[in-house]
Order: sequence, then C-alpha cells, then structure tokens
Amino acid sequence: MSNIFPKNFIWGAATSSYQIEGATNIDGKGKSIWDKFSHTKGKVANNENGDTATDHYNRYKHDIALMSDIRLRAYRFSISWPRILPNGKGKYNTKGLDFYSKLLDELLKKNIKPFITLYHWDLPQKIQDSGGWSNRDITKYFSDYSYLIAKKFGDKCKNIITLNEPAVFSTFGYLDGYMAPGLKNKKKYLSSIHNINLAHGFAYKSIKSISSKIKVGCTLNMAPCLAVSNSSKNENAKIIYDTFWNRAYADPMYLGIYPKIIEKKIQHLIKQNDMKIINQKNDFIGLNHYQHIRVICDRKNLLGARSINLNELPKKINKKKLTSMNWEIVPDAYYNQIMELKNRYNNPIIHLTENGCSYPDAQNKKGKIIDTKRISFLKKYLKAVKKALRDGARIKSYFVWSLLDNFEWSLGYKKRFGIIHVNFKTLERTPKKSYYFYAKLIKKNSIPK
Ligand code: FCB
Repeated sequence: MSNIFPKNFIWGAATSSYQIEGATNIDGKGKSIWDKFSHTKGKVANNENGDTATDHYNRYKHDIALMSDIRLRAYRFSISWPRILPNGKGKYNTKGLDFYSKLLDELLKKNIKPFITLYHWDLPQKIQDSGGWSNRDITKYFSDYSYLIAKKFGDKCKNIITLNEPAVFSTFGYLDGYMAPGLKNKKKYLSSIHNINLAHGFAYKSIKSISSKIKVGCTLNMAPCLAVSNSSKNENAKIIYDTFWNRAYADPMYLGIYPKIIEKKIQHLIKQNDMKIINQKNDFIGLNHYQHIRVICDRKNLLGARSINLNELPKKINKKKLTSMNWEIVPDAYYNQIMELKNRYNNPIIHLTENGCSYPDAQNKKGKIIDTKRISFLKKYLKAVKKALRDGARIKSYFVWSLLDNFEWSLGYKKRFGIIHVNFKTLERTPKKSYYFYAKLIKKNSIPK
C-alpha cells in the first residue's frame, strides 16, 4: 500500500475555545459552565482552570503564523457561545464577534481553510441555569446562535460543525458528573440526548437558510466497544454502552431513527416532526477517535454500564501501548471505526476532526521537545486512515489534536496533546519534533518514513 494521500486531502489541526483562548472575563464575554466548573474546588486536577489557558485570544496571530509556516491547509476551532451571546440568547456582544472575525481574516490571509465548531462544551452558564441541554428550550437558543454565526461568518467559512462529541458532554456532564455541569441525573441525561439531536437539526436548517453552500455536519466521538470479560453481564453492558455511546446521535442524525433501546426510554419526549428535523441531509460526518472503549457492567452507574477506569485495565496490556492518558494505541480500532461509518451511514463524506495523543513532552537541555512517541503514534494512525481510503471510505481531511498543548478539561494542564509545546508559565510556544514531522507530511502529502 502506498503512503500517498489523495490530491487535495486537507491536513489540519484542531483546538477548542475554552481549552486555548483564556480571556474568560473580558471584552463582554459571559460566563460558561466550564468557568464555573473549573472554579469549583476539586473538580479539575490541581484546581486548574482556563482563565489564561494558552492566551490564544491575544496571541492568535502568532499561532496562525506557526500554522502557516508548515502550510497547514485547515484549522478547526470552536466559537465560545458566551463570548458571542453572554446570556446565551438575546443581545450579541460585538467585541466577541470582532475577535472571531479577525481570526477568520488572518486564516484566510494565510490560505488556511477555517472549520468552525459551534459548540465545544462551553455552554453559557445562563442557559445551564435553566436546565442546559436537559431543557428543550435550548434547541431554539442554539438554532438562533447558529443563525447568527452563519450570517456573520458564512462568507468566510464554508464548513460548520454544529456540536463536538455529544456522547462526551451528555454522558460525562449529565450522567457521570465529572465534566461540566457535573450532574448525575439519568432523567436529565436522557432528555439531553433528544435535545442535542434536535438542536443539531435546527442549527442545520438555520445555517442552510443563510447559504446552501455552507457544508454542515456534526462531530461524533465514536469507537468500537469491547467487554472487559466475556461474562454475560459484561457482554450485556457492552451492548448498552455501545448503543448509548456510538448510536444515540449518529443514528437519529444520519439515519433518522433511534436505536430501540434508547427509543423506549425517550419516547415520551419525541414530538411529531422531531425525527424529520433531526435527520437533515448532512454534508459530512465528523469523526473524533482516540482508542477503543473497554466496557464493564456497573450496577452503581445509572446506565448499568460504563467505560473502565485507568486502573481497571487488563493486567496484560503492555505499558508501551499506552499514552499518558492511559489510552491504548490501537490503530486497527480507528480503521474499523471509519469502515463502520462507511458501511452503516451510506458511505458519507468523512472529516477526521480529531486524533492524536498525550505524552509528558519535557523540554531537553537544549530546550527541544523530541516527541518520538507522538510521531510513531501518528504514523500508525495515519496508516489506518490510508487503509480506509483504499477500502473506499470518503475521507476528506485529517485534523491532528492538537495544534497546541492546552487545558485538558478535568485533567488540567498536565496532559499535553499539542504538536506545539506551550510553557504555561511564560506562554512561550516551542514547536515539537512532531510539528516538523507534520510539515513533511503536508509537503509530501504522504506519511514520512
Ligand atoms: C476530545 C475532546 C477534545 C480533547 C481531546 C483529547 O474528546 O473533543 O477537546 O479534550 O478529547
């Protein structure tokens, strides 16, 4: 198999607003659920928060110059909803719009295609105060916000991702509680599923009403599930988890149906026409993928099933096959997941909107970061992408997570995913060896040896 990618393949890098911007409390920005959550003691490792993060809000030009130096073709970033609408709805904040407008202009000046994500988890706190994703009203607010963004930026950005990883922010935010808003409430979790799906559908319509030329899709975090053992209770847990994790959003959005297990539980929430609204003619599916998921039966968990904790990994797993998140390096799972999308969802256009790994990435005495493990990870995963392309998947892009080291949610700043190192004291950026690897990849349009 050759390592050469199709002509016009889009090589990109991804980030998200709360993880990099900082400037959480200036220029009229409203509070988000992550501002509140990270300032609640004990919620984030070392009680860290995104107040400064990488200070991208002030350093975006420099960051774009770093992208341009390696001829990055696309940049996926998210818009902070409360920076645009401090209360989540109503009057917009001009200074917030100005920031993204300048960012977009700078990207276009450097010939970098912007991919906007409308929602990467920093919900306006004001909307959370009235129930957040568990209250159906949010579907209208999200639709209005999407309309505003498409209206203001639709001429500059032709690719919009509505939501980032519904399964993550609903499961971890409403069911397991270790991400904002930190709830453990099955009823709210179940209603969030339906409202998220509806919000996507409404947003799609809003954006397309501005211009049919803007391509719209949703980014889903999907991964093959494995039971931790072949006992019938773990096998059963796997089926439940797989259904809720992998199909609760993809099936309604891309096929127009809920899996039976889910439909039974949320039937009372589905109104006439809802399924039609949810199931739009999406232009693409965005896939975020890192590893497969090992599932265990856990009666204390509200679903009766959950993904295992780091210390529950089977003993026989070789430490070398783990990243510093204790995530397993399994490129075959990536290939299988892409092929599952191709086969189950009628061979859609696929954007690989996130993939990457975290390692400690310390600077050596000369100040360099020689992240050979990341390079090896990327080579393996990119080979899986290449194989899926050979087997007919319509993949148009790959976005490495992440451009910069950043605030890794509940795990704070210790987990470094960037191809560019950030010193969180001085905020200095230092390209890692993987950054130069990525440059070579882009230049040759093939995986370097
Ligand atoms: C994904 C998130 C992203 C980042 C990576 C490591 O689930 O979308 O923000 O945290 O994981």
